[in-house]
Amino acid sequence: MMTNLVKSDQKSDDVIKVFGGKPLEGSIRVRGAKNFVSKAMVAALLAPGTSVLKNVPEIRDVQVVSDLLRLHGVQVDVNGAEGIVTIDASHVELADVADVDTLSGSSRIPILFSGPLLHRLGEAFIPALGGCRIGDRPIDFHLETLRKLGAKVNKEHKDGIHITAPDGLHGAKIHLPYPSVGATEQTLLAAVLADGKTELSGAAIEPEIMDLVAVLQKMGALISVDVDRTIRIEGVESLRGYTHTSLTDRIEAASWASAALATHGDIFVKGADQDDMMTFLNVYRRIGGEFDVDDNGIRFWHPGGDLKPVAIETDVHPGFMTDWQQPLVVALTQAKGLSIVHETVYENRFGFTKPLVQMGATIQLYKECLGSLPCRFQQRNFEHSAVIFGPTPLEGRDIDVPDLRGGFSHLIAALTAKGESTIHGISLIDRGYADFRGKLRALGAEII
Ligand code: EPU
Repeated sequence: MMTNLVKSDQKSDDVIKVFGGKPLEGSIRVRGAKNFVSKAMVAALLAPGTSVLKNVPEIRDVQVVSDLLRLHGVQVDVNGAEGIVTIDASHVELADVADVDTLSGSSRIPILFSGPLLHRLGEAFIPALGGCRIGDRPIDFHLETLRKLGAKVNKEHKDGIHITAPDGLHGAKIHLPYPSVGATEQTLLAAVLADGKTELSGAAIEPEIMDLVAVLQKMGALISVDVDRTIRIEGVESLRGYTHTSLTDRIEAASWASAALATHGDIFVKGADQDDMMTFLNVYRRIGGEFDVDDNGIRFWHPGGDLKPVAIETDVHPGFMTDWQQPLVVALTQAKGLSIVHETVYENRFGFTKPLVQMGATIQLYKECLGSLPCRFQQRNFEHSAVIFGPTPLEGRDIDVPDLRGGFSHLIAALTAKGESTIHGISLIDRGYADFRGKLRALGAEII
């Protein structure tokens, strides 16, 4: 059965009205992780067989990757209701550059097609990338990795990058200057079928990456991960299709947890996984949020009384995720005292606080590092630390969604605020939050 993962009525529905001030209460289910599912779909391209991915969320990013795969001659069947994607990559062909280009700017995933396409076809065309505007988001590590593995990168094309590997890819010693999630995935997807051994030091080890390693191992790859963030990949001759159930989206789960705290609510997040959220749960408890873990998920609630302020620094795994930061900042506007957030992953991830201030929050941004973690943005001109003073009542207003996580944070702010808010550009949230309108209604939110 073929269904679009994001229903068409949602696509056109770009504005939402929120009548806030009511606690969110009830139960919702969170499916697989956006930042894993898209990569596992790309991995299927490595094998001339059929792969089956389960627990797939109904989000726009899945639709974009499905379309990209189809443009390369791959058969993709999406059963949105069941959350199952079946990919038959027996046949792969070069996509028309103009067609690929229509998807440029939709996501950051196309760059990860490089390795699989080089192995299957000897060349790849990567359109200009999209994704959230939360910093410069260069792809220098990706391209350097591909070059080290033997690829030739031509950036002359006006619409994208043409990559070739006339002599195939070969193993290499690679060091990442920063543990980039995408560049680690790039190396994995390119090195599994390369000739010889690859050693990747300074790798990222996010749970989503470990799930990708699990998928690749099911496909026949030889990969080991050392405690010092070194990943060793022994190239194999060929890979086969996989069947795999995605890990839960820990960013979506934490977003709903933050919504429960900010709105004085009580939300059971079915599917939430404690192991992948330990760092978040510790912070949640320090703030004064309550949670209860059971076999089916995690219940998050505001126990009443004052929330406490915290100082947090975002970091790569196992640190506090950058993607958890934005929704939690809204909850911190309701904590009693001064909270500090030092963002060390993206240089420009506090733009979303401006509308919060207009709604009544007291948030001051600083270029200094307000924390002790090593930070690439020290002595640079980026407002990457925030001081939040609370509690401040929020008032509804008109908001334009800036990016995926910032947008969801605005939604939480509107639900927390007294009065009416109108949020424009809301469909951006469809990229990563499956059926969030349905879930909000199930939690008693007043939205139209
Ligand atoms: N970076 C470079 N050069 C590169 C690659 C990255 O300088 O070639 C820098 C980035 O500019 C950034 C830092 O390294 O400052 C980390 O970037 P990373 O490569 O780790 O991020 P990503 O792979 O582009 C994924 C997620 C993001 C998530 C980050 C960090 C996907 C599709 N995206 O991005 O998710 O924030 O890892 O965990 O997996 C989101 O879901 O809203 C989101 C932005």
